[in-house]
Amino acid sequence: MASLSNGHSTSPPNPNPPSVHIKFTQLFINGSFVDSLSGKTFETIDPRTGEVIATVAQGGRDDIDVAVKAARQAFDFGPWPRMPGSERGRILMKLAELIDQNTEELAALDAIDGGKLYQWCKTVEIPSAANMLRYYAGAADKIHGEVLKMSRQFHAYTLLEPIGVVGHIIPWNLPTAMFFTKVAPSLAAGCTMVVKPAEQTPLSALFCAHLAKLAGVPDGVLNVVPGFGPIAGAAISSHMDIDKVSFTGSTQTGREVMQAAAKSNLKQVSLELGGKSPLIIFDDADVDKAAELALIGVLFNKGEVCVAGSRVFVQEGIYDEFEKKLVEKAKAWVVGDPFDPNVQQGPQVDKRQYEKILSYIEHGKREGATLLTGGKAVGNKGYYIEPTIFTDVKEDMLIAQDEIFGPVTALMKFKTMEEAIKSANNTRYGLAAGIVTKNIDIANTVSRSIRAGIIWINCYFAFGNDVPFGGYKMSGFGKEHGMEALHKYLQVKSVVTPIYNSPWL
Ligand code: NAI
Ligand code: MG
Repeated sequence: MASLSNGHSTSPPNPNPPSVHIKFTQLFINGSFVDSLSGKTFETIDPRTGEVIATVAQGGRDDIDVAVKAARQAFDFGPWPRMPGSERGRILMKLAELIDQNTEELAALDAIDGGKLYQWCKTVEIPSAANMLRYYAGAADKIHGEVLKMSRQFHAYTLLEPIGVVGHIIPWNLPTAMFFTKVAPSLAAGCTMVVKPAEQTPLSALFCAHLAKLAGVPDGVLNVVPGFGPIAGAAISSHMDIDKVSFTGSTQTGREVMQAAAKSNLKQVSLELGGKSPLIIFDDADVDKAAELALIGVLFNKGEVCVAGSRVFVQEGIYDEFEKKLVEKAKAWVVGDPFDPNVQQGPQVDKRQYEKILSYIEHGKREGATLLTGGKAVGNKGYYIEPTIFTDVKEDMLIAQDEIFGPVTALMKFKTMEEAIKSANNTRYGLAAGIVTKNIDIANTVSRSIRAGIIWINCYFAFGNDVPFGGYKMSGFGKEHGMEALHKYLQVKSVVTPIYNSPWL
């Protein structure tokens, strides 16, 4: 293992990564792999080297239109929304089984396409995606309405009906996980759909489309159209025959999606957007464990996570000790080839993201924050960046306000709990927050005072299939995970009948 002069561990490129065979590069529409109507393609890049992995069909507005027609036909006339929920559940279980049988292949696709850790994808992220399918497979036959008594001579019942054709717009940071986070509940609900994976990471989504067909998902129910955001993505959000759009990505693009929905057919929108999540560490914390949590909180998935704990507030009594430990741990963190099992951080997803992160680091220095460690690119090939820690950060600095989406953290000191709450809430975002303390009163007070969709007490990144997750404020609206996500893809119809022939009718 080589080491850079500044102390960060690095790992040389892995000479023998698992061989990755790219089998699917065309659009998946109505059960078949097809070229785009224009014949256009785009290159998907390996962020370890900047080299081309494969050439993928580029979906345009016309291709989205064909995919929506297939999904519409499958929704209006096909078996999927009409079959018993238990039958949909059986097919989703089969798909989960197929994911399990192809874990290594899917992990390799996300690792090579997105620079994600192969071992992590293989042991955690892909198996979790299969379990997400199982969770919603079990829910597919438990979609019930209510019986309502009404007053006097009427009674009513509600039907929960699938919302129709859904457009899913997927980001690149968790390609397979995010695919199933959206696809699994909407399939269970009985919807049909068009999925647009991110242009940076289209490969695993196409492979999953193939597996869905093998599992028995009928043609037209699940269509996957890779392409660029402003073209294929915009064609989804503005389409007149899509009933709902579910988007995960940047706040700016989320705004555009909502505008397009408003200007077209007023389709329902759910948005899971950016974050600048606080991790608040109190004086009574175990400093070593807290530093570990803060490190993982910002470096997991190279910081390319919407819930990254990128603002770390530390109480003054332990600040110096905490800072020292965090820096030590960051220096020992191994950056390198994501196929190497010793590596903890791979390359950023693409050149644009890499340059964006480096420019935020430069901005942080200019703003007057103190760089404790990191701050530079690693190596001269690919998009690797050192774990970077700033201290002396002021709340109004750009590095404390903007989502950087990289391995960069901002440390800030606080005196009182009230001050910590005020500072933690001083953001336009509200996705997640972490609290580290042994004091139950502090934990309870802070968790109720932070305006964010998920609060982790003495842990971080603790997700569960049954735990709703989603934003407050400009981090968006509409939950992923849990039964809340299933209900995003259902709509309520009320049916009213008289109980007997009454003279008032
Ligand atoms: P983005 O929001 O532009 O891309 C996410 C998805 O939206 C991709 O599939 C993209 O093709 C699509 N898209 C882009 N423009 C669109 C449009 N006009 N209409 C419909 N769909 C469109 O994010 P981008 O540019 O890849 O990354 C920029 C920043 O966004 C990141 O640095 C990060 O801060 C944030 N981000 C947040 C994510 C999250 O999980 N909340 C995920 C990805 C990015
Ligand atoms: Mg974009």
